[in-house]
Amino acid sequence: MSDWRVPGFTSTGSKRPDALFGAAAPDEVEGLPTRMTRAAGCRVWDAQGREYLDYVMALGAVALGYGHPAVNRAAEQAIATGVAGPLPPVLEEELAEALAARIPWLERVRFLKTGAEAVAAAVRLARVATGRERVLGCGYHGWLDWCQGGEGVPAETRSLYGEIPFNDVDGTRRLIREAGDRLAVVVVEPVVVIEPAREWLDVVRAETTRVGAVLVFDEIKTAFRLAVGGVAERYGVRPDLAVLGKALANGFPLAVVGGRADLMAGAGRTWISSTLATESVALAAARATLEAFVREDVCAHLHRVGTQLLHGLHRLHRKHADLVTGVGGIAEM
Ligand SMILES: Cc1ncc(COP(=O)(O)O)c(C=O)c1O
Repeated sequence: MSDWRVPGFTSTGSKRPDALFGAAAPDEVEGLPTRMTRAAGCRVWDAQGREYLDYVMALGAVALGYGHPAVNRAAEQAIATGVAGPLPPVLEEELAEALAARIPWLERVRFLKTGAEAVAAAVRLARVATGRERVLGCGYHGWLDWCQGGEGVPAETRSLYGEIPFNDVDGTRRLIREAGDRLAVVVVEPVVVIEPAREWLDVVRAETTRVGAVLVFDEIKTAFRLAVGGVAERYGVRPDLAVLGKALANGFPLAVVGGRADLMAGAGRTWISSTLATESVALAAARATLEAFVREDVCAHLHRVGTQLLHGLHRLHRKHADLVTGVGGIAEM
């Protein structure tokens, strides 16, 4: 493994062989796939040309299937129009409008390329709005300094970040109250393996408001899955800001930070900017993806086939408990 040109084998942590297959890495366990050459629909071909039925779906970044024809067509048209230029494309505002029509709490949005960037932008906007620095998070929010510890992250940055326990009503209430008027923002990944308890979401919402902090739903994994508008739509709990990514553009690189117009206006008082944030291929792909989700009620389909799959996996677990060590997750994801 140490001879790979890409340190750590891949730039995406969750695509490491040990993340996919467990501690036994593929160069030690002959036959496991390491790298791929092609994907189409629900199928993937590895470097040896072997074909697989894929359940990983690019870590959730693809919900319509790989290379979806309508999304590809939209992307190809965007390529033909030049991809990027000196001015923001008309498509940027059109997509913002289409998202707001379907997800009304996205009153204003900014586009970025990665989930990590978009969540970091939400945290920045919350700090601008509140003039406070402390952050409480729950779940995974990307690799950037504000939510990470360990080597390379300044201790002072780390000291501003704490975690609230998923689905723990009392613990969450206590930590938010303790942070009190030093708290800028609570960032919540609203599904961590299992669905959130309604009461927990209500407590997160009420307590964040109570201390005057901003509530961000990190819907990178849940939007365009549980519902187009994610957990906020399914549960009817409104965050102040939301972040979408992954399935949003069916595999093309795009993320969104959006929410209350007054909070988003803070973008004019700080610096959130990325050269290729509005290249038009991913924007076009996202618009085609959104259209497909609405036209074909994709979330209902994900619920149906996901439920069927989960039931089957649970049956296999019961039948072969020695081989199937565990089954988890929710149908749409
Ligand atoms: C909930 C959540 N937030 C943020 C991120 C970071 O997104 P990205 O890897 O696009 O930076 C991820 C990625 O897995 C995620 O699942």
